Amino acid sequence: MQSCMIKQQTIKALALSLAIVLLPHCSSDEDGGSPSSPSLEDAVIIDPADAAIAIGEQLQLQARHAGAAVEVHWKVAQGPGSIDDSGVYSAPASLTVRSVTATIRATMQRDESIRGFAQIVVSTNEPDPNDDPGTTVSLAVQPESAALNLNEELQCQAFFNGQPASGVSWAVTEGPGTVDANGLYRAPSSIDASKLRALIEVRSAGSPPLTRSVEVQVYNYMPGTVCFQRDVMPMLLSNCAMSGCHDAKTHADGIDLSSYEAMMRSHETVRPYNAGDSELYESITDFGDDDLMPPPPRDPLSKEQIALVRRWINEGAPDSDCAPPDGSNCDTVDVGFRSTIQPLMQSYCVGCHSNAAPADNLALESYEQVRNSARDGGLLGSIVHDPAYKAMPSKDLKLNDCQIKQIRVWIAAGTPDN
Ligand code: HEC
Repeated sequence: MQSCMIKQQTIKALALSLAIVLLPHCSSDEDGGSPSSPSLEDAVIIDPADAAIAIGEQLQLQARHAGAAVEVHWKVAQGPGSIDDSGVYSAPASLTVRSVTATIRATMQRDESIRGFAQIVVSTNEPDPNDDPGTTVSLAVQPESAALNLNEELQCQAFFNGQPASGVSWAVTEGPGTVDANGLYRAPSSIDASKLRALIEVRSAGSPPLTRSVEVQVYNYMPGTVCFQRDVMPMLLSNCAMSGCHDAKTHADGIDLSSYEAMMRSHETVRPYNAGDSELYESITDFGDDDLMPPPPRDPLSKEQIALVRRWINEGAPDSDCAPPDGSNCDTVDVGFRSTIQPLMQSYCVGCHSNAAPADNLALESYEQVRNSARDGGLLGSIVHDPAYKAMPSKDLKLNDCQIKQIRVWIAAGTPDN
């Protein structure tokens, strides 16, 4: 049980409250982690799970999963300091407050949905400035910077000479998100860039007021998280939102899965952070029940597709799109049929254009089928939403610029079978 001891350390400076922090699970030794409780398998345990060190010091962390050492990606998810690939955390050389908590995240390399967190309190060795009355008041804020995903929260705290400050006001002076009177910042649920900067300002009541800012990078996604528009939407569109089922016109059972907005309008369909209580997830996992979706003769979703939906909901069900808006890391050099084009067709088109039930009598599974559609102009015309063609995958969903560019490159190269 040692791994389960959560030391009740007095974390005096910071009530740390990133919404994503999961405390290590305390599994009872008897049940050995039953497979029916996925949460037990879902955490990396970091040793130590919490610790206190001084500025300038280092600390070796170790990651385990199911009792064995595992390869993880290390990251300082919040707070100061840095961590290297081998799990050595280095505290910063100085601090503007007397102590601050850093949150370390370990993401398992072979399954990025499995993570764990540790908290390290870093303190200065300086004497308490309050022992010396008469010094001028200084305002500090913690953290000074942070990186958040969509929908995540960050508790900011202000200090006068190292003591929690009262009577200050908070405002978002630049960028997205909102902050409440207690300094709790909430990132928005969607942004139209891969990353946006927000500045949160704290201001003292005195005159002239003292101000400090927290700089937050809001990411449209974080590496390892599910991208809704890239990973989930195409799957819903081609398995659920086809005409006659859950599209905008029919919305069988009142459920419209044709866009993010439509889907989130009903609160029961998707409950962020709670896949188990979301109708969408229940309906695709109701094996042996008449209500299993998609209904026969369609095949149920694959294990991987189901896991993806679960992860996406449990990550907060954000409207995330991992495509870089500027197309900057779009690979248009290594565009092969099997490496690029066919997977695109599988994700976005084959749900409707399958050999078994081809919409418009058009199947897009084999090389010859896709080539023929490219040669008659339909493939490109439909995906660029050329008015002469029906818009594909739908009038509400367009492939992103990079994907369209890759298809153009492949066609321009003579639709090679590579
Ligand atoms: C949700 C189901 C669905 C998905 C997903 C889908 N299609 Fe279609 N597609 C159709 C239907 C239905 C038609 C017949 C035209 C119509 O009624 O809109 C069609 C027609 C077409 C046509 C003929 C268009 C024309 O105007 O002649 C092409 C080409 C096509 N699809 C390509 C694609 C490609 C490429 C993708 C993936 C990027 C895709 N489709 C994804 C349902 C779908």
